[in-house]
Amino acid sequence: MELSINGERRALPSGSDDPAMPLLFALRDGLALTGTKFGCGIGQCGACTVHVDGQPQRSCLVPVGSLAGKAVRTIEGLAADRIGAALQRAWIAHQVPQCGYCQSGMLMAAAGLLARTPRPSAADIDAAMTNLCRCGTYPRVRAAIGSAAAELAGARRP
Ligand code: FES
Ligand code: FES
Repeated sequence: MELSINGERRALPSGSDDPAMPLLFALRDGLALTGTKFGCGIGQCGACTVHVDGQPQRSCLVPVGSLAGKAVRTIEGLAADRIGAALQRAWIAHQVPQCGYCQSGMLMAAAGLLARTPRPSAADIDAAMTNLCRCGTYPRVRAAIGSAAAELAGARRP
């Protein structure tokens, strides 16, 4: 079985190619893309968030057999576009991570938000950012999303 990951066709090795295999484990164990984290395994924490056809998805709940013809993007591919690159800069500027464990999922959720809603309100951010952070980085996450949105809006001006 092959998947489209970060713009490349990647063959899943034996052991990761059962159609019922959660994408999270295929990424981490089959393809060594360990930036996507395993938190709860039941769709609650968001640590495993990736994009499937541009939409944030919790990869612990996505069987690889459902991904034929779809494009998966992981944290390793985040900075390949302007939204991801802006978020990466904002995360650094605001020193968002503490332990860092939840941050891949936070960034992927934030990238999905800014793709849908370039200038999100505080309510938009709260609605989109349902990821859990044991270190309590929520205020810095919100501030960094605002900074990235402002930078991107500025870059769009003629
Ligand atoms: Fe997937 Fe927690 S590991 S939502
Ligand atoms: Fe530690 Fe979020 S930075 S869990």
